[in-house]
Amino acid sequence: MTKAVRVHQVGGPEVLTYEDVDVPAPGAGEVRIRQHAIGLNFIDTYYRTGLYKAPTMPFIAGNEGSGEVISVGPGVTNFHPGDRVAYYVNLGAYATERNVPADKLVKLPDHISHEQAAVLMLKGLTVFYLLHKTFKVEPGHRVLIHAAAGGIGLLACQWAKAMGAHVIGTVGSEDKAKLALANGCDHVILYKTENFVDRVKQISRNELCDVVYDGVGKDTFPGSLSCLKPRGLFVSFGNASGPVPPFPLAELNNHGSLFATRPKLNDYVGTRRELIEGADALFAAVLSGTLHVPINHAYALKDAQKAHRDLEGRVTTGAAILKP
Ligand SMILES: NC(=O)c1ccc[n+]([C@@H]2O[C@H](COP(=O)([O-])OP(=O)(O)OC[C@H]3O[C@@H](n4cnc5c(N)ncnc54)[C@H](OP(=O)(O)O)[C@@H]3O)[C@@H](O)[C@H]2O)c1
Repeated sequence: MTKAVRVHQVGGPEVLTYEDVDVPAPGAGEVRIRQHAIGLNFIDTYYRTGLYKAPTMPFIAGNEGSGEVISVGPGVTNFHPGDRVAYYVNLGAYATERNVPADKLVKLPDHISHEQAAVLMLKGLTVFYLLHKTFKVEPGHRVLIHAAAGGIGLLACQWAKAMGAHVIGTVGSEDKAKLALANGCDHVILYKTENFVDRVKQISRNELCDVVYDGVGKDTFPGSLSCLKPRGLFVSFGNASGPVPPFPLAELNNHGSLFATRPKLNDYVGTRRELIEGADALFAAVLSGTLHVPINHAYALKDAQKAHRDLEGRVTTGAAILKP
């Protein structure tokens, strides 16, 4: 019997229920996988609380994972039992076994582990599109990355630094500051105790940043706008502290003819071609040593409640996985 973590009603971590589920045989175009590792993501908490609406109720939580093909449905010719594969798909990941549409799967290169792949498909692909597509980071750009010691944060700092950027990160504690500095940050700001706008002005000698990557949301708004140079880009890509409130468009004018975007992964890696392009770039970055995948926490799948408490309680750093 397959074990999964389901949500029957939205709420706190206690609504995550570890239970038996029936998984049907893979349908046309689907692949059945036995999962080896599942990525933990802040977006999992948005679905759990109802901030993001799940299309069905109950639903199986989780959005990325890695495992081994055990069977394929009608029409699938490019995957075979035994293949090592990974994916990001909206919901359904917190399970020992599951079906995934074949066009959402990528094969793992030999030296990429299931644990690495399980956190690269959502977090890694997000960092890929944020740094290479939403804003093309180039040598000499000054970038501000909020929550720099988080799952997205540590990968983004490493990659932005490797691309030649000058990286400023914000973090919630001294320990996180050390971690961010060891992962590519040139400067860290303790934004619970320091005014991050003043510190960015000081660090940049009032030249400010070309781009701000803001996954924190409510608590760093509108400060993030004040960290941008004229015509800079505000990338609001998440809501760890709550959503950014509605604001007048004229604020962008007042802060220096700024640009603003609210991107999501599906719109950047929605086609098969884009998925393969992003996955290839990520795997190459890991295999060449440009990116180290910081898996700092592992929880048993049945302990998903604790994993969510730790993530929302700002206890985790880097990436965390659930082990089926
Ligand atoms: N748009 C997209 O395509 C996309 C895709 C993936 C993820 N995301 C977003 O990226 C962000 C990071 O995701 P992640 O999974 O890597 O999480 P994470 O960064 O590992 O965890 C969130 C971090 O946010 C910081 N934070 C600030 N205020 C917080 C608060 N009130 N409550 C909890 N945390 C707070 C904490 O770091 P400090 O203690 O250092 O402040 C915390 O560790 C999230 O907003 C997520 O939604 C967006």
